[in-house]
Amino acid sequence: MAFGKIGQTLTAVEIFDLVRVELEQVEREIGLESVSSVDAVTYIGQYLQSGGGKRLRPILVLLCGRLFGESNPGLVRMAAVVEMIHTATLVHDDVIDMAKTRRGRPSINVVWGNHTSVLAGDWLYMQAFQVALRERSFPILDTLINLTQMMVEGELLQLERIGKIGVSEADYMELIDRKTASLFSACARLGAAAQGAPENEENQLADYAWNLGIAFQLIDDVLDFTSREKILGKPVGNDLREGKVTLPLIYALEFANPEERKLVETVLADGNYDQVPFGKILQILRRHGGIERAQQRAEAFTEKARAIMRDFPPSAYQRALLAVTGMVTDRDH
Ligand code: IPE
Ligand code: IPE
Ligand code: MG
Ligand code: MG
Repeated sequence: MAFGKIGQTLTAVEIFDLVRVELEQVEREIGLESVSSVDAVTYIGQYLQSGGGKRLRPILVLLCGRLFGESNPGLVRMAAVVEMIHTATLVHDDVIDMAKTRRGRPSINVVWGNHTSVLAGDWLYMQAFQVALRERSFPILDTLINLTQMMVEGELLQLERIGKIGVSEADYMELIDRKTASLFSACARLGAAAQGAPENEENQLADYAWNLGIAFQLIDDVLDFTSREKILGKPVGNDLREGKVTLPLIYALEFANPEERKLVETVLADGNYDQVPFGKILQILRRHGGIERAQQRAEAFTEKARAIMRDFPPSAYQRALLAVTGMVTDRDH
């Protein structure tokens, strides 16, 4: 088998293959657990599940768990729980951001409206907790509750900063720690815990995944400028239109002249690219190296993640977790 070769980077398919059986179980579990006596919830659940998504978080739970042996039902359950929480956050996030598209299709808020979407998101959150509760484990609940509060606080902080051009790198890092890295970190922790891993290894894995999560959000924010809607499954230039000043722009603004700054402010104030075309903003970013610098920053975090992972004993799962870091920085969606 190709992934048996030490020192060789695994491909996405090879990584996927390592946890294919468990991932199928995860999909079954999510399908079963997204059914309610109220039809709207069930329809929304099905719409979300069939919309695709990379399933990166459950993959992370499974790979981290499999470092410690054959999977048990608790591991699969935790993988389902994190994807359900992720989905709930996306439903709420799209309401807050007034997003139109998600996973290449009209977002839930567009199809069902804000009111139904908020409640469906709440239901999904609670269902995730319901499933997690079957483990009868206080540490697991502790992790999930802390995580959810961190993420909600992140969205609240983001709201406070909407439309503001003066966001600092430190502000930005705090935000992505909360809204993305905390979930990645919890994925690793839950995967390890479900398999009874020693506490110090659980902590190391949480650290690995935190670095991976930071890199993931950095790249998400780079792709928002550099990708195309067809590939990304959501519109490009969206963050700035939504009033979010992300790291590529923060870096570019450090060197921008007053006219360039004014152009960015205009988009922030207008919430569209009618007066200042998206291409103009891209030019500013490129002129001042904002994209490359943010990308390099992401790579520094994946390098840190790899360094942590190299301390684990060699196995197919360890190599997969090493390779995942490359997939995060080299992805196109
Ligand atoms: C979207 O996450 C939210 C961010 C943290 C950027 P993903 O890009 O993993 O979304 P799906 O699940 O693949 O659609
Ligand atoms: C990430 O925020 C979503 C959450 C972690 C809740 P974004 O607003 O940047 O995500 P996208 O770009 O809509 O996927
Ligand atoms: Mg959003
Ligand atoms: Mg984004």
